[in-house]
Amino acid sequence: MLKIAIIGFGKRANDVWKTIDTFHACTVAAVADPRAEELKQERGEEFPDCAWYTDAEEMLNKETVDGVLIGTRCNLHTKYALLVAKYNLPLFLEKPVSITEEELAQLETIPHMEEKTVVSFPLRRAKLVDIVKDFIDRGVLGELSQVQAYNNVKYARGYYHKWYRDESITGGLFLQKSTHDLDYINYVLNRGIPKTICAMESKQVFKGDRPANLSCADCPEKESCPESVQNIAEYDPKYAYPPAKCAFAVDTGNHDSGTILMQYPDGLHVVYTQNFVARKSAGKRGARFIGYKGTVEFDFNTKSVTYIDHMSDRVDHISVETTGSHSGGDKNLAKNFIDIMLGKDVSRAPLSQGILSAKLCLAAKKSAETKTFIEL
Ligand SMILES: NC(=O)c1ccc[n+]([C@@H]2O[C@H](COP(=O)([O-])OP(=O)(O)OC[C@H]3O[C@@H](n4cnc5c(N)ncnc54)[C@H](O)[C@@H]3O)[C@@H](O)[C@H]2O)c1
Repeated sequence: MLKIAIIGFGKRANDVWKTIDTFHACTVAAVADPRAEELKQERGEEFPDCAWYTDAEEMLNKETVDGVLIGTRCNLHTKYALLVAKYNLPLFLEKPVSITEEELAQLETIPHMEEKTVVSFPLRRAKLVDIVKDFIDRGVLGELSQVQAYNNVKYARGYYHKWYRDESITGGLFLQKSTHDLDYINYVLNRGIPKTICAMESKQVFKGDRPANLSCADCPEKESCPESVQNIAEYDPKYAYPPAKCAFAVDTGNHDSGTILMQYPDGLHVVYTQNFVARKSAGKRGARFIGYKGTVEFDFNTKSVTYIDHMSDRVDHISVETTGSHSGGDKNLAKNFIDIMLGKDVSRAPLSQGILSAKLCLAAKKSAETKTFIEL
């Protein structure tokens, strides 16, 4: 069995671990998390051979492991990636890989981690994206004219209720969300590094003058507010997230819609737009790739790809049966990580692509703030 160490064993790391565990090839040998004692009490029986630490460096000094999973919140990803790089171990790194340009520059100093780091980009490893990429690689669409991508996030309440509302931890919703979408677009197009980027963002709904740090539980308007967790629980229990902070307070971070335009050196341009107000079946995530000969469009929500031939009456509808989270992408990332630890493969979501995507998101953020075009 391969031995994995986990740094930051929270919600996402647990989901990733559960997916890795479906291959029956690994054990959790060690965990470093400030909540080590609490986690040991909760999960000690599930992981009888696990060593629990509060300090990641001490863990890596004392334990011999085959790979490390970093699942902390966003502002600690770079710090711990640099630490793991000192031990030259295979790494599963949560996204975004960094939240500042300074951190990105630090990640660029560890090129030896390129092929042994799996950046947690499940969308690029989803079957739907494979199908779209295949249409483009085979030249079925002819000369590409434009890409129109969208992400109307139907489960977005957590970005205003939970810790994600604090942009000093996440870097904001371009880094949090579009890092995935820009990555799969770059991967599908395979045209190198975009040259120019600009963006706009707005906060039309989740803003207000309620006091900082207000919780739904303590709010005098909890009976009437449509975003109070008790009211959400009645019509959308999955997205209620108690205990919740106020979505309409002075300290509620994050835009509620944002749009990025980016252009590749050959002139092709992409428009990507994200919205955090859409709910239920208004949720949509995918893109339309428009070429001279045809258009291909896909949606992660409906698990479907449509190909329209511009030169005939032909329309193909493809449904994809995927199992597991992120349309099966998480499972493929997990398998890739295991194969890297076994020395059988290199990363299919390498560090350079995590860096590129974060760079684009930071440029988008800067463009939106300064109302300028950014040359990369
Ligand atoms: N790739 C994806 O599709 C995807 C999906 C969801 C979340 N995420 C990312 O996963 C990350 C974690 O999100 P989450 O919801 O699991 O958060 P979380 O708060 O549930 O987990 C974070 C964990 O890190 C621990 N931690 C805090 N400080 C630490 C430190 N100094 N050293 C080590 N551990 C520390 C916390 O105790 C906690 O256990 C975020 O960056 C988020 O963007 C990615």
